[in-house]
Amino acid sequence: MKTYIAPSILSANFGNLQQEVEMINKSDADWFHVDVMDGVFVPNISFGMPVIKAIKKHAEKTLDVHLMIVNPDKFIKDFKDAGADILTVHYEACTHLHRTVQAIKATGMKAGVSLNPHTPIAVLEDIIKDLDLVLIMSVNPGFGGQKFIENTYKKIAQLKKLIEYSGSKALIEVDGGVTDKNIQKLASKGVNAFVAGSFVFKSKNPSETISTLKKLVSE
Ligand code: DX5
Ligand code: ZN
Repeated sequence: MKTYIAPSILSANFGNLQQEVEMINKSDADWFHVDVMDGVFVPNISFGMPVIKAIKKHAEKTLDVHLMIVNPDKFIKDFKDAGADILTVHYEACTHLHRTVQAIKATGMKAGVSLNPHTPIAVLEDIIKDLDLVLIMSVNPGFGGQKFIENTYKKIAQLKKLIEYSGSKALIEVDGGVTDKNIQKLASKGVNAFVAGSFVFKSKNPSETISTLKKLVSE
């Protein structure tokens, strides 16, 4: 099974953003995970288009953009223009999720849907075949550096079953509290893509930490 390591830029040093992007380019990372927060859907504000464009200018890998915003439909084209390759919206923020997913795909981006820790997998039953990716939040969205929620394992197993049963090609991504201690168990449950923020950027040698994570989930 192919696995993807996606360092979360939210924990990077914004004073040296270009250097951080170049470190990821050279590392064993597969994607850039880019967290957009609006202060409404989540109790925090991160960054928007100018910063994404700055990352894109130097990034040589997939931009995996995670929107923690209300009304994402309004900005789909802007995120495409800013350089997003994968655009993930929250189930809890989209009244007309099917329309939103189709609109993302129409731009040529891959479409992802994210679930908060309390949202059951079953809500994806009628959309799973349309999705390129499902992002399971293993912390409550809004901040880096939080503790991994153990109930996530159960949800991943349920999602894996739903994907197999429906014939969906969606990748499973997990976001929040991922470390060298839980990444292998997550992989064994069927996770394809692993977001890691503070564990990578607060470590002494982020590039080495990325390699460590990658090795733990490579066959
Ligand atoms: C949280 C964000 C995450 C965050 C993960 O709302 O979606 O991507 O950066 O950070 P860590 O890995 O520190 O939990
Ligand atoms: Zn995220």
